[in-house]
Amino acid sequence: MTNHGTEGSECIQSPGGGIDVPADIDWDTLRRRALEAAGMAYAPYSGFPVGAAALVDDGRIVAGANVENVSYGLGLCAECSVVCGLFSGGGGRLIALSCVAADGEPLMPCGRCRQVLLEHGGPQMLIDHPSGPRLLGDLLPDAFGPGDLTRGEPKTP
Ligand code: THU
Repeated sequence: MTNHGTEGSECIQSPGGGIDVPADIDWDTLRRRALEAAGMAYAPYSGFPVGAAALVDDGRIVAGANVENVSYGLGLCAECSVVCGLFSGGGGRLIALSCVAADGEPLMPCGRCRQVLLEHGGPQMLIDHPSGPRLLGDLLPDAFGPGDLTRGEPKTP
């Protein structure tokens, strides 16, 4: 299996500066698959189709688009479609994701999607950005996580 993780694989310096990214991630393919997915979007209310495509740790690529609803708040972002596709296809961990608008240029995941992606990719997951991939952990610092749930007991006086 190809090692797509950040450990043990060849890394290159991000053009944006700051982080080393795995050299074997095919960002062009991820962006192309994301744009193809945007073509399947159901976005009659916003008129803003979005597509996302992610590399999974077993090497497959999972793509999805936004799916809106007449009850506006029920709309699903493209990244949520990717996570549904991840589990429909057997699960796994997300390594890298590109999200694009209809112009094919990277779109940064909304705040809710950053939390959703963190659950399935962790802080080392890479997110496409015009100036080079960004670590999800940098896009959602000090995130709420499973460790916080252990603090459910009320404080005794
Ligand atoms: N949208 C996404 O699919 N992903 C994001 O990260 C940002 C926003 C969608 C939601 C809605 O269908 C449309 O873009 C306009 O907000």
